This record gives sequence, C-alpha cells and structure tokens, in this order.
Amino acid sequence: MEVDVAVIGAGPGGYTAAIRAAQLGLRAVCIDDWTTSDGQSAPGGTCTNVGCIPSKALLQSSEIFDHAARALGEHGVVCAPPTLDLGRMMARKDAVVRQTNDGIRYLFRKNEIEFLPGRATLRRRTDAGDGACAVDVVVEPGSRTLRPRNVILATGSSPRPLPGIAFDEQRILSNRGALALDAVPQRLGIIGAGVIGLELGSVWRRLGAQVTILEALPQFLGIADEQIAREALKAFRKQGLDIRLGVQIGAVESGAGGVAVAYRGADGDAMLACDRLVVAIGRVPNSDGWGADAAGLTVDARGFVAVDEHCRTNLGGVWAIGDLVRGPMLAHKAEEEGVAVAERIAGKAGHADLTRIPSVVYTDPEIAWVGQTEAQLRAAGRAIRIGTFPFSANGRARAAGDVVGLVKVVADDVTDEILGVHILGSGASELIAEAVVAMAFRASSEDIARVCHAHPTRSEALREAALAVDRRALNV
Ligand code: FAD
Ligand code: NAI
Repeated sequence: MEVDVAVIGAGPGGYTAAIRAAQLGLRAVCIDDWTTSDGQSAPGGTCTNVGCIPSKALLQSSEIFDHAARALGEHGVVCAPPTLDLGRMMARKDAVVRQTNDGIRYLFRKNEIEFLPGRATLRRRTDAGDGACAVDVVVEPGSRTLRPRNVILATGSSPRPLPGIAFDEQRILSNRGALALDAVPQRLGIIGAGVIGLELGSVWRRLGAQVTILEALPQFLGIADEQIAREALKAFRKQGLDIRLGVQIGAVESGAGGVAVAYRGADGDAMLACDRLVVAIGRVPNSDGWGADAAGLTVDARGFVAVDEHCRTNLGGVWAIGDLVRGPMLAHKAEEEGVAVAERIAGKAGHADLTRIPSVVYTDPEIAWVGQTEAQLRAAGRAIRIGTFPFSANGRARAAGDVVGLVKVVADDVTDEILGVHILGSGASELIAEAVVAMAFRASSEDIARVCHAHPTRSEALREAALAVDRRALNV
C-alpha cells in the first residue's frame, strides 16, 4: 500500500504528527501496539495510558481528598473526615484514560487517518533511489507491508529499572504499577525525587501512605531554578514527604514481607523497609526491537535515535520525534516535533523551538518554568536582573488560602529580554503559558509589566515579578 506518511507510535508525538499530515492533504497511517489487559488497542501512548492523563486524574482526586481532610475547616466548611473509596477513584481514572483513547480514535476517523493496531518493524529497501524513503514498514499481525514516502518514528520511551531489579508491578513498581495500586500502601518507598517520584509520591501521601523518597543527587530537583527548588523542598517536607538526598542505593530485597532497600546516606549505611517500592529514575528511549539496526538507523550510545534540528534521521525519508530523540521527555515537546515534521514533509517550514518548552511538576504547590535558570545564566556569564514576587502578597492567593510560593522573572541586564520565568505555587501550570507566549515574542520584562492583568488573579504575581525586575513592584 502506498502512503505519504507512516507514523509508528500513537503517543502525543505520533498521533499529532498524523493529524497535521492529514490536515495538509497527506495520506497518513498510524501504527501503534499498545493494548489494554483485555487485548484492546489503546492509542495515546505512555501519555494517555500510564503517564500524563492517569497521573493527573489521580493527582486531582487525591488533592480533593486531601483538601476535604485538612483544608475545609479553615473555610468554615465543617464535615466529617472523608473516607476513601480507592476502587472508585481508580475506576474514574480508568474512565478518563478510556475517554482519551476514544478521543484519539475519533480524531483518526475525522482526519481520515488509517489506524493500524499492531507492531511495526522497519525493513531496509534495496531499490530506494535518490530522495526515496529508505525503508518499508511491516505491520504485525498480518505482515502487511507499507511502502511509505516518509516514516515518522514516534515509539516513545520506557521506565529505566535499577540494574538487576526488574519491575514486577506488584512490589517493585514503575509508573504503570504505581498508577494502579489496589490498596494504599502503609509505607511507600520511592527511588528518584524527579518528576514521577514527586507527583506519584504526592498522590499516595495524600491518600494516607507514609512516603519516603531516596534521591541520588545532593541537590533537590536540579533541573529547576535553585531558589524555587529550595522553597519546593521545604513545602513538600512540611506536607510529610520524607525526601532523603545524596543517597547511594545498595541491595534491594523483595519478598512476601515487602521490600528492603539498603542505601548509604548522609548518616552512613541505612535500610528503608517499605511495602511497595516505586523506581522512578528516568526513562529510556524505545529504540530496540523494531529493526533500527538492520535498517541502518543511527542510534546514539544512550539509545536515542540521532536526529538533526529538524528531526531528520540519517535515513532518507525517515524522521524521529518525541521521547525517542534528544530533548526533554515531555508530551508537548513530542507534539511540537510531530507538527513540525509533518509540515516539513508537506514542504512547509515547520520548526520546534526546544529552548521555549515549558516544564511543569503537578505537585501542590505546582512548579513550572520556561527558559533558563538563574544559575545557568550566571554560569554562562550573562548579566541579568531578577524580579521575584511572593504569592503571600497576592490577593487572590490569600483569598484562596493558598499562599505558598513565588514567581521569579529573570531578564537580560541590558536588553531586558526575559530569559527565564520560574513559578512555585498553586496554578503555576496555567500561569506559565503567559511567560511562554511572552518569551516566544521575545518580550522584555517591561512588556509584561505594562500589560493590564485582571484583579484579583494569580497572574498579577507574574506582572509584579516583572515589575520587580525594575525594582518597582507595587504590592510588596
Ligand atoms: P509515547 O507516548 O511513549 O508513545 C509511543 C507509542 O509507540 C506507544 O504507544 C508504544 O507502545 C508505541 N510503539 C513503540 N514501538 C512500537 C512499534 N514498533 N510498533 C508500534 N507501536 C510502537 N509529559 C508531559 O508533558 N506532561 C505530563 O504531565 C507528563 N506526565 C507523565 C507522567 C508519567 C507517570 C510518565 C511516565 C510520563 C509523563 N509525561 C508527561 C511524559 C510523556 O508521557 C511523554 O513525554 C510522552 O508520552 C512522549 O510521547 P511520544 O509520542 O514520544 O511517545
Ligand atoms: P526524572 O529524570 O524526572 O527523575 C529521576 C530522578 O532519579 C533524578 O532526580 C535522578 O537524580 C534520580 N536518580 C537516578 N538514578 C538514581 C539512583 N540510582 N538512585 C537514586 N536516585 C536516582 O525521571 P522520572 O521521574 O523517572 O520521569 C521520567 C520522565 O518522565 C521525566 O524526564 C519527565 O520528562 C517525564 N515526566 C514528566 C512529567 C511532567 O511533565 N509533569 C510527569 C512525570 C514524568
């Protein structure tokens, strides 16, 4: 069968690429091998099935539970302590996932994209002339061979296990098992205080688990701005997350009684005993098992498919996007690349700007940022000015009773161009969008400072932080 674009993987990168290709008049097919426990296809990839969507569903449900347990009294709402129906919470999460799978199927139909549930393998074409696609795509079951003009590889990533400790999803859990527990563990151990450790640690702490997180690095959340990370660590510890930094993990023993993790920490050798252990130490690209080597695709030492700035691989007509390639492992980054590649294939000038990809950690308070941190800019010798504004001085935050955190704007000392915005606080995930737009238009801090923001809103804190760059914040 001849198609313009064969997309391998229906995660946020792949399905978005297929939609954009179809919008541009290209004939697209999308192949995906994700199946549910009862064997049904489930387009949406990691993000929909065991990532962004179910984690946010559980974060929302657990936050409601936590608020009902501890925050309502302050508002004069008096009710009996809530009880947890974990089965219902999980069923709701599963329903949200299924709706999202169905939504993607609907989008495939609407855009006349053929969805092929199954596993794709590349097969090198021996007769490919100049400018032709270097590979065919074989889809199993059925051994159907596609001869596409272009292939977009969007096979995503998988959780990285600790060396020698396989995930059994019963006691040693990846994100998959940690999103599907049938009971709240009394003691939950987590290895890795990264994004998954913090988000899923928050979920289970709110639902009643005693959560201990063991992190190798001495610095907390090193990818975020240091000041923001410091404040976040204080907030999380106050909530009861036991975060131990600078540890070296030793033997992990799993048995009927639970899991024992030997580690060396600041105070010497120690042991963490827990009922379940989540291992969240990063993810590895899915570049194995679908013929990359045999097809002659260049894959780097860490398993990422090598691409140029336009997501072109070394093979003619073969592109790669999302978690499979360099850059942050984020759904919206994968989507940006998917759109850009589809546009390039259609002869347009698609481009994904990796310097302005926002990051969000959906904890409470949320952490969100875009651009560079203060430390990165100082290390690069950039002369900068900084404005900060605390949510404790923001009317809306005070009215809501949710005042933890701050907004930090970092601007160039001479041009005043905004180089980074870092937010810790409730609603940071939405507030960051204004900063991303501003930076995309290469705005100065004065540009944000001169724009009227509705009162009372948390967005005023961003404006105040922008004013503070010029030492003229109004409400502190
Ligand atoms: P994926 O979503 O991994 O999709 C790849 C698809 O390709 C899968 O369905 C896979 O089965 C399929 N596939 C692989 N090989 C083949 C083959 N040979 N043939 C056919 N199909 C194949 N990111 C955010 O931006 N925001 C969040 O809030 C967020 N939360 C997350 C929470 C968790 C717990 C996790 C684990 C991740 C989270 N992420 C989040 C990251 C996000 O899920 C990924 O960055 C995103 O899914 C990557 O998209 P992708 O299209 O590259 O790959
Ligand atoms: P991560 O890279 O965010 O964090 C992993 C953490 O584990 C790091 O702090 C690292 O120092 C630590 N670590 C590594 N090896 C260790 C060891 N042996 N012992 C102890 N600690 C160790 O990776 P995570 O949390 O697994 O998430 C994977 C990816 O999924 C992230 O890169 C992120 O891009 C994506 N994700 C995004 C979310 C979001 O956007 N809100 C939510 C969840 C995941």
